[in-house]
Amino acid sequence: MHIPDLDTLFAAAVAARANAYAPYSGYAVGAAVLAEDGAIYAGCNTENAAYPVGTCAESGAIAAMAAAGARRIAAILVLADGPELVTPCGACRQRIREFATEATPIHLADPSGVRRTLTLGDLLPHAFGPDNLAR
Ligand code: THU
Repeated sequence: MHIPDLDTLFAAAVAARANAYAPYSGYAVGAAVLAEDGAIYAGCNTENAAYPVGTCAESGAIAAMAAAGARRIAAILVLADGPELVTPCGACRQRIREFATEATPIHLADPSGVRRTLTLGDLLPHAFGPDNLAR
């Protein structure tokens, strides 16, 4: 199995971000999920005139992964450009949690490259997840 490198994950997020639909915030985001099988699924934020209906880049990438039948996130990269490095919003941290572990790397990038790598455990400690519902 060929596992793509970080540059490939970054390139997928760059390509998705180029299609971001963010006419209201002007803040374009791209996300790329590396699934356990080595496949990459990308997403961009998709805003809406009814503001709260807009969706995050991570949400789109995770939905694409699930639609393809993959169920484990090996790594995720989020890319945006602004005064602060982008980090997944609270809701997306929970979305990532569903398919990841505490140790799953979350790469934070700006257009020049990956600036920082955290884990899901860093971003969402003591998370509620599927294990809580296991019986
Ligand atoms: N956004 C994302 O897509 N992902 C993040 O990690 C942070 C925020 C989007 C949502 C909205 O379209 C815009 O960025 C500004 O909040």
